Amino acid sequence: MGLDFSQIVPSIPYILEGIWVTLRIVFFAGVIGFALGIILSLFKISSVKPLGWLADAYTSVFRGTPLVLQLMIIYFGSPQILGFQIEPYAAAIISFGLNSAAYISEIIRAGILAVDKGQREAAEALGVSYWQMMWDIILPQALKNILPALMNEFITLTKESAIVTTIGVMDIMRRSYQVGAEYYSYFEPLLFAGLIYYLMVITLTFLGKLLERRMRRSD
Ligand code: ARG
Repeated sequence: MGLDFSQIVPSIPYILEGIWVTLRIVFFAGVIGFALGIILSLFKISSVKPLGWLADAYTSVFRGTPLVLQLMIIYFGSPQILGFQIEPYAAAIISFGLNSAAYISEIIRAGILAVDKGQREAAEALGVSYWQMMWDIILPQALKNILPALMNEFITLTKESAIVTTIGVMDIMRRSYQVGAEYYSYFEPLLFAGLIYYLMVITLTFLGKLLERRMRRSD
């Protein structure tokens, strides 16, 4: 196995620029997924049944089809859905955000249900309104418990983001593939991409652990 990393050295900065592209997609998709995930999870536990059905159907569709398909449908379908062609980068953020919301809503729903019933009963006995109880009492406790699961979701997003390559986003994956094509040698740049993804995941794991410890300390 002959490995020669020296020829890709001049291209390393080019590949590394992909980190920001990847991180931006993961960040914005995470924000969309989290916000929409909270709304969907509240729908799921709501006593208004149709809201629950709607949220369940949403999760079912987005979990039941491949993410790469959702990405392509949103990208190539945008002229018919929206009336104009969106940028690959926007399609990536939207599809990852919508997809992640399906998973995050289930994580948050489980987290809410795991909060002790007594919290809810006490709030009701004190006459706290439903939304205030959710926002100030139940959700903060739920979020603390589901932090590891949320971190896991961000790690999944980071790795899955490599599929944005298929619609032409210049992420880490696409850049290293391009460099491979340039030198007629894919092995080294792809190994390098693997190292970058791995370091990103390790960093996210570390940050998650740090945050978790902080939150436990406030108990
Ligand atoms: N490869 C899976 C798919 O295509 C990943 C789904 C995304 N997962 C997630 N937790 N957001 O369906």
